Amino acid sequence: MPDAATTEHAQRASQTAVRAPSRPRSRDVIPLDQPVIVAIDGPAGTGKSSVARELAHRLGLDFLDTGAMYRAAAAIMLDKGLRPDDAQRLVDEVVSADLHFDWTADPPTILAWMEPIDHRIRDEDVTGVVSRVAGIGLLRRHMVAKQRIIARQHPRLVTEGRDQGSVVFPDAEAKFFLDARPEVRAARRADQLREAGHEVDEGALLREIIERDRSDACRTDGPLIRPHDAELVDTSDLSFDEVVDHLYERVLAIIPG
Ligand code: DC
Repeated sequence: MPDAATTEHAQRASQTAVRAPSRPRSRDVIPLDQPVIVAIDGPAGTGKSSVARELAHRLGLDFLDTGAMYRAAAAIMLDKGLRPDDAQRLVDEVVSADLHFDWTADPPTILAWMEPIDHRIRDEDVTGVVSRVAGIGLLRRHMVAKQRIIARQHPRLVTEGRDQGSVVFPDAEAKFFLDARPEVRAARRADQLREAGHEVDEGALLREIIERDRSDACRTDGPLIRPHDAELVDTSDLSFDEVVDHLYERVLAIIPG
């Protein structure tokens, strides 16, 4: 007998809106000459980055971590002693850094001025300012243009961020919006921090997440919204493998072939 939570979850999971009618899957791979963009949007704590990476593996597509690009911009801002309100100088530096990925690495590593900076972009000071940096309109426009150029060079792509299906690739063949209850996202974040050896105040984390959701949804540039044609996947009660399996099946069913 399913309990109330399971029933509620099943109801949420069935709340889907998809671009194309679902068809029975006819194959296990996407033909190598077929361009396909899979866009995964959603807030932090839904596991979208690791899900996107694994999904890209399984589908034989490239994986684009757009959060790494904003993190790189935040690292550049800090390391060059710039301030978030000096948008033009920041964008000038980011342009001069010629941010790009080394696609031979797994996951692809991000480079600035031809040097890998993946070791820097997860530092605490970068994490502390990146949300603010990602709210700079001028920078977002630069990043959106860059992400579209990347997609022309890598036309078979799983891309994740919070604006990939809504703004950057509105015509993506498959769009998903990963979400989870704030309490679940706070608990996942707490686990990550504990694993990294930090003390955790889960109540404070939850308040931060709720506040971040509110400010993300309201911001003028790149607000977090669910594209109307993206499939909503509530990951609250799903394991990592269940999420990846679901997306994998859905992509194969959605992509014409
Ligand atoms: O996914 P992440 O934590 O690495 O993202 C870093 C920050 O960049 C986070 O504040 C969300 C923001 N971001 C964004 O605004 N747009 C994107 N396409 C990707 C990330």
